[in-house]
Amino acid sequence: MITRTNNRQRSRECYARAQQSLVEGVNSPSRGAAVYASGPIILERGRASHAWDLDGNEYVDFMMSFGALIQGHAHPKIVEVVSQTIAEGSHFAATTLAETEAAERFLRMVPTSDSVRFTNSGSEATMLALRLARAHTGRSKFLKFEGHYHGWYDPYCLNGHSHPANQLGPRENPTRLPDSEGIPPAVFDDVVLAPWNDVPVLESILRRHGHELAAIITEPIMANMGCILPGEGYLQKVCDLAHHYGALFILDEVVTGFRYAPGGCQQYYGLKPDLSTFGKALGAGFPVGAVAGPRAILDRMRWGSGMVLHYGTFNGHRLTMRVIAANLDLLSSNEGAAYRQMYAVGDSAISGLKGIFQRRKVEAIVQGFGPMFQIYFTSCDAIHNYRDYCQYADTAKYSRFIHALLDRGIYMTPSNGLHWIISTAHTPVDVEALLTAVNDACVEMT
Ligand SMILES: Cc1ncc(COP(=O)(O)O)c(C=O)c1O
Repeated sequence: MITRTNNRQRSRECYARAQQSLVEGVNSPSRGAAVYASGPIILERGRASHAWDLDGNEYVDFMMSFGALIQGHAHPKIVEVVSQTIAEGSHFAATTLAETEAAERFLRMVPTSDSVRFTNSGSEATMLALRLARAHTGRSKFLKFEGHYHGWYDPYCLNGHSHPANQLGPRENPTRLPDSEGIPPAVFDDVVLAPWNDVPVLESILRRHGHELAAIITEPIMANMGCILPGEGYLQKVCDLAHHYGALFILDEVVTGFRYAPGGCQQYYGLKPDLSTFGKALGAGFPVGAVAGPRAILDRMRWGSGMVLHYGTFNGHRLTMRVIAANLDLLSSNEGAAYRQMYAVGDSAISGLKGIFQRRKVEAIVQGFGPMFQIYFTSCDAIHNYRDYCQYADTAKYSRFIHALLDRGIYMTPSNGLHWIISTAHTPVDVEALLTAVNDACVEMT
């Protein structure tokens, strides 16, 4: 039974107060007015799959810190490790046993790599991966796909937001649409854009630019336009094409890493990227990122002339490293039980949602599988790429739908560009609560 006070007074007051000191009252635009029509709900505490706001309303949390909370809120093991570690001194900015123990576990779970470097966020990881790729190949340009998000580093901030379809330009030569002011236009001279999930167009773009590229970077499952799966064999093809032109294949697993399989999507799809980047689920709620790959590439960071620079006071933060070790132990214990559970719960949520939309005659589809999925209000059978998303996903309707769910004790961001997350803490009872709320919201909306 979910506790509701149906009052948002304290959330409203807190948000008004936050606006006096914080830009828009938030520390990241996706948390505020950009997506929450009537202001954000201010969460105060969480436990397992549930969270409570300042007014005492309880929610089943399906956003899970944009996927960072793979063990749910306040997992007892993580709480224990954090309490113990903090009492001993949280960080020394010196080398520690904790970072080696985290790295060993990481490499056991991601066997395509024999070396890892920890950063403090996914953005730092993708930043470093590009620098490494450029140093390794001696080339500056790289290819990114429309609608993929790789963090907020200057060269990645191109065509990452949704735009009206008539602004996108030809598929073979997409119009460049910067996501931010303040980036020198010359930065984008090094970026080659391509539509995703389209081999012939990629081949044609590579015939023009392939020999100039340091890397092709891709998300394995598009997770920033909802949840868009790669066509069969597509990712391997992208990898082969990158290698054909002497470029590195960078797999950005910041969302998918440790989520779809112990070794992420590279394990799930049988890929061997040259570099891969991680974040979110790796830290179980603590800020971290990682770049993994072969020594031949990562060793370019070794000190000396010609090195790739990567500094950071908080790199390998001892508290986070201890959390990572505990998190990876939980994920890899009991012969994959954590993954079996996330898949079972997620798949039952997906099939339940599809059933409701069908019964209620709501034009909506659900994409994804297991621990991550997204709902699109659309008359299409599938959303295959960024252009489909821009043209065919009714994002305003999705936002109204989520606001109706928030009123019924389901916590999720109203942004259609994100995705529903199943953690190891979610249960069949949470799925029942979700399906009841969705059914009621559909009745209200139709
Ligand atoms: C695929 C992908 N890469 C990189 C990032 C950046 O990670 P962070 O927010 O930790 O900087 C994100 C964040 O959402 C992401 O989805």
